[in-house]
Amino acid sequence: MSQVTDILQNLDYGVAPESAQLAEDWLNEHGRTFGHYIGGQWVAADTTFATINPATGTELAQIGQGTEATVNQAVEAAGVAFGTWNSLPGAERAKYLYAIARQIQKHARLFAVLESMDNGKPIRETRDVDVPLVARHFYYHAGWATLAEEEYPHHGPVGVCGQIIPWNFPLLMLAWKIAPALAMGNTVVLKPAEFTSLTALLFAEICQRVGVPKGVVNIITGDGETGKALVAHPNVDKIAFTGSTEVGKHIRRSTAGSHKKLSLELGGKSPYIVFDDADMDAAVEGLVDAIWFNQGQVCCAGSRLLVQESIAEEFYARVRRRMAQLRVGDPLDKATDIGAVVDTTQLERIHQLVEQGVAEGAEKFQPECTLPAQGCFYPPTLLTGVEPASTVAQVEIFGPVLVAMTFRTPSEAVALANNTIYGLAGTIFSQNLDIAHDVAAQIKAGVIWINGTNFFDASVGFGGYKESGFGREGGREGLEEYLVRDLPTAEAPRLPVIDPLPDADPDIDRTHKLYIGGKQVRTDSGYSLSLPLATGGMADISRGNRKDIRNAVEAAEAAASGWASTTAFTRAQILYYLAENMQGARHQLVESLTARGQQSAEKEFDATIHRVLHWAAWADKYEGTVHQPPLRAMVYTRPEPLGVVGIINPAAPALLGFIGACLPAIAMGNAVVAVPSAHNPLPALELFRIIEASDIPAGVWNIVTGLPEELESTLAGHDGVMALWHFGESAAQAKAELESAGNLKQMWTPSGPLDWHTTPSTEWLRRATQVKNIWVPYGA
Ligand code: NAI
Repeated sequence: MSQVTDILQNLDYGVAPESAQLAEDWLNEHGRTFGHYIGGQWVAADTTFATINPATGTELAQIGQGTEATVNQAVEAAGVAFGTWNSLPGAERAKYLYAIARQIQKHARLFAVLESMDNGKPIRETRDVDVPLVARHFYYHAGWATLAEEEYPHHGPVGVCGQIIPWNFPLLMLAWKIAPALAMGNTVVLKPAEFTSLTALLFAEICQRVGVPKGVVNIITGDGETGKALVAHPNVDKIAFTGSTEVGKHIRRSTAGSHKKLSLELGGKSPYIVFDDADMDAAVEGLVDAIWFNQGQVCCAGSRLLVQESIAEEFYARVRRRMAQLRVGDPLDKATDIGAVVDTTQLERIHQLVEQGVAEGAEKFQPECTLPAQGCFYPPTLLTGVEPASTVAQVEIFGPVLVAMTFRTPSEAVALANNTIYGLAGTIFSQNLDIAHDVAAQIKAGVIWINGTNFFDASVGFGGYKESGFGREGGREGLEEYLVRDLPTAEAPRLPVIDPLPDADPDIDRTHKLYIGGKQVRTDSGYSLSLPLATGGMADISRGNRKDIRNAVEAAEAAASGWASTTAFTRAQILYYLAENMQGARHQLVESLTARGQQSAEKEFDATIHRVLHWAAWADKYEGTVHQPPLRAMVYTRPEPLGVVGIINPAAPALLGFIGACLPAIAMGNAVVAVPSAHNPLPALELFRIIEASDIPAGVWNIVTGLPEELESTLAGHDGVMALWHFGESAAQAKAELESAGNLKQMWTPSGPLDWHTTPSTEWLRRATQVKNIWVPYGA
C-alpha cells in the first residue's frame, strides 16, 4: 500500500512525443526548398534563406526571399483574379472556404506538427488551439460569403489585399486575414513572417488542391523588405498587418495619401487584474493561459499582473508554486507547457529586458527547471515589486515573463491598467460582477475577459485601442475591414477659401473669437483674417494657431470622459435641444450663409436641422450586440467613443458640412476639436452662442478658426487626439495621415467631396466608435 502512495506522490510525467515523421516527409517531398505561390503555381525563388527549428537549432528548409519582382507578379495575379472572384455569387465563394476548412481538418496533424517544429510552440497548443480555430474561422466565414449580398447591400470588396503576418500564430493569423478577405470577394497576397513560413506554404498547397481559382490566394515569402515592397505597391488596395507597433507606424507613414484601406493589429501590455474576492485558484490557472501560453509571445498576453494589495503575497506564493510545475522543453512532447521561443534574437531580447527589470529594482523569480541543452528556451519568470513607470511595466517583452504590481481600490486598478500606450486586451478576476463589469467598461482596450482569459472565436471581433492599432478581426467588425461602403460624392465646389494675404487687422476687438472649453476666447496669435462678404465689407475672424489647437485639445481631453459616460439618452436629448435652439436662430444662421454668397441658404439650413435630428435620433440607438461563441460564454460588445476627435471640415456646405461632420462624433460620446470651413467659417461662429445656451458640456465641442493648413498639422500630430477626420483637399489629407503615425490615430480621409445632402449611413457611427468585446464565461 505504501508503495502505491509513494508512486502517487512522486508521479512524474513520462515523455509523450508526437511523431515528426509526417512533417519530415512533407518537407522531403518538397526537397526542403520552397518558392512562392503565385497565380495558382509555384514560382522558384532566386535567393533563399533557412527556416530553423528553434527547439533544436536545425534547418528545416530553404525559403524564398521575395523581391520587388515577386511582389509585382503576385499583385498582378491577384488583380487579374479579382474581377472573376468578386463576380462569383457569394454562395459559390463559400464552397471554396468550406473546402479549405475541410482540408485543414483532414490535415490537422500535419499542420499542427509543422507549426510546432517551425515556431517552437507546444504541440498541445497547435493541436488543440491553433488548428481548430483556423478550421472554425474558414467555416464561419464560408457562412458570411453566402450571406454577403443579403447583409451588405451597399458595400463592395476592397480589391487586392496585401496581408503581412507575424510569427507567433502563423497559421491562425493567416486564417484571420485570408478567410474574411475571400468571403467578401477580395483577392490576397499574403506574406508570412520570415521565421515561420511553412504552414502558409502548406496552406497554399491546400488552396491548389481544392481548386481555389488561380490568383485569388498568393503566398509570397521573405523578410521585412518583401513586406515593405508589398505595402508600397500602388495596385494594392488594402494592407492588413499584424506585428510590432514600430512596423505598424512605418506602414501608416508609407501608406499616407495612398487611399489604401489599413488595419493594424499591434502590440500590447495587457493588464491582468485580480481582486481580493477572486477565485484565486481560477485566477492562477488563468495566468498560465495568459502569460505562459505560446511562451508569452502573444500580443494580448496578460503580461501585467495587478493584484489587490490585501491578497498580493498569498497570490504571488500560489503563482510561484504553479510556475514550479510548468514543464519547459520539447515542443513536440504532448506534456510540454512551455516550448521554444521563436528565435535567438527574440531570446536575447527577453533576456535583456528581464535583466533591465532587475537593474531597475524588480525582484526576479524563476522556478528550478532544467532547460534543454540546446534551442531557444527561457524559463517562466515572475518580476515583483515593479514600478508602474519601469521599463518592464511599459515595454512589450513578448516572452514568458510576468510583471506584477499591486493596487488598493478599483479606481487605482483602472488607472494602472490604463497606464500604457497600448490597449489590446485586459483580464479581470472578481466574483463580484458589479465590480467586474464596471472595471471592464473603464479599461481602454478592445477585448476584455472576465474570470477567464485568452478566449478567441471567429464570431468575436479582436483588435486594439490606442497604439495597439485599429480595425478588428473576427465577427462583423472584421468583415467590414474587407468591405468598402458607398459614400455618395458630389461635384467639387469651386469656392474661394480664406485668403491669408489681406491679413492681420491689429484691431482684434471686432474679431470673432474661438470657442474653447465652453468659452469664447481670443486667439493666442493675436492675428485675424479678413473675410470678404458678398454684401460688401469684411468679417474678421480669428487666425488660430498651434497653441489654440493645443488648448482646444486640452479642453476636449478634460471633457471627454465625462461626456462618454453621460447616458446615450441624455446625449440624444441634448442634441434635440440643440436643434430647437438652432431653429430659434434660423435668421442669423441663414444670414451667415448668404453673407458669403450662398444661393440656397434656406434649403441648407432646413437640411441641417434634419441632420441634427438624425444624429440626435441615433445617439441612443447605435448599440452593441451579444455573440454566442461555441463555448460556455457570452460576449457582449460596446461601441465606445474614441476620445478626442479632430475634424477638418469641408469647405462647403459650410453649415450642413460642419454639423454633419461634428455631430455623429459628439452623439457617440466623443469630444471634438473642429476647424470650420475654409470658405465660410461664419455659420460655425454663429453656433458659439447656441452651443453656450445648450446643455453641451464645456469642452465637448471646440471650434478653432484660421487657415486649415496652419492648424491641421498640430491636430494630426497631437497625441491627445485619437482620431482625425479630414474632409479637405487630398494633398492635405495625405500630409495629415503622415503626421498621424505618432499615436496611430484612426484617420478618415474620404477621397473626393462628399454629398452632404444625402441622408448619411451608419458608417459615420462606425467611424466615431471603437468596439470593445467583453467575454463572460459561465457555468455552475
Ligand atoms: P515585426 O513587426 O518586425 O514583423 C512582423 C511582420 O512584418 C513580419 O512578417 C515581417 O517580415 C514584416 N515586416 C517587418 N518590417 C516590415 C516593413 N517595414 N514593412 C512591412 N512588413 C514588415 O515583428 P518582429 O521583429 O518579428 O518582432 C519584434 C517585436 O514585435 C516582438 O518582440 C514583439 O514585441 C512585437 N510583435 C508583436 C506581434 C503581435 O502579434 N502584436 C507579433 C510579432 C511581434
